[in-house]
Amino acid sequence: MRIPFIAGNWKMYKTPKEAKAFAEEFKKSYEASSVKVAIAAPFVDLETLVKAFKGTGIGVAAQNMHWESEGAYTGEVSAEMLKSIGVTYCIIGHSERRQYFKETDATVNKKLKKALAAGLLPILCVGENLKTREAGGEKEFVEKQTVAAFKGISAEDAKKITIAYEPIWAIGTGKTATPKQAQDMCAFVRKTLKKIYGSEVSEEMIIQYGGSVKPANASELMNMPDIDGALVGGASLKPGDFLEIVHF
Ligand code: PGA
Repeated sequence: MRIPFIAGNWKMYKTPKEAKAFAEEFKKSYEASSVKVAIAAPFVDLETLVKAFKGTGIGVAAQNMHWESEGAYTGEVSAEMLKSIGVTYCIIGHSERRQYFKETDATVNKKLKKALAAGLLPILCVGENLKTREAGGEKEFVEKQTVAAFKGISAEDAKKITIAYEPIWAIGTGKTATPKQAQDMCAFVRKTLKKIYGSEVSEEMIIQYGGSVKPANASELMNMPDIDGALVGGASLKPGDFLEIVHF
């Protein structure tokens, strides 16, 4: 049985004060259920959120990390540092990091391995852009990204990774993939994982859909057989909207 997992991705929004206000508001109406919930926040908010969500079961995620434990890497934060303040998850390879900060399949793979070694649970993002989709190349593209990300990762470790399929054309655009498009691609990601690890592992793995998920479309998406959760950007910034999504 796959336990649904819904994560908010705040991107570069909210100061610690705003993060605390969100957490207090969210906790008032949050009903713990069999759905796992996490918030991925800017580094400066993480400790505040860890404290605010203590005892609620709500996890805290970073949005990025470096693949080394320490060193002369100005501006970077390591997996061990995140772990030391009580962070549970880390988004790795978000399309915005790939697009604006030159992350490659190779650095994504290094980061995944480091996160796993440090005991952080990765949320790996994959997804094609509009040009690739219009040319009909989305499956080939996502397969390549997925295979490269998991290179050299054992089946045991692979099971700890959540994958977020996020078509770039649906991120922050208001254009959600249709439930069928999202289901098709999440099923395809699972098929790719099956080729690498076999069906026992691939059937256990959590695959989220991300891209303009909102209260109005969450339950329809979540009801698709291969969609096990969501990575929610814009709609995770307001406690009310995110609550509606996690209580889908
Ligand atoms: P969005 O972002 O929900 O605002 O489209 C999703 C994401 O980038 O993870």
